[in-house]
Amino acid sequence: MTHSNSQKPVAVRLDAGTHWLCSCGLSKNLPYCDGGHKGTSFQPVALELNSPKNVEITL
Ligand code: FES
Repeated sequence: MTHSNSQKPVAVRLDAGTHWLCSCGLSKNLPYCDGGHKGTSFQPVALELNSPKNVEITL
């Protein structure tokens, strides 16, 4: 469960590597973690890709 209840999917193209995604809904740079979760019990979620991919992330 996140602070956000929008359930709005965002389509993004991500390069290979590790991407830190926001799980709290407080980031000002969604869908990525910007550290806005500090002081909450939420932690960013790591998404590791071996190759560039189009992904759809539900916020
Ligand atoms: S800002 Fe949401 S998990 Fe970091």
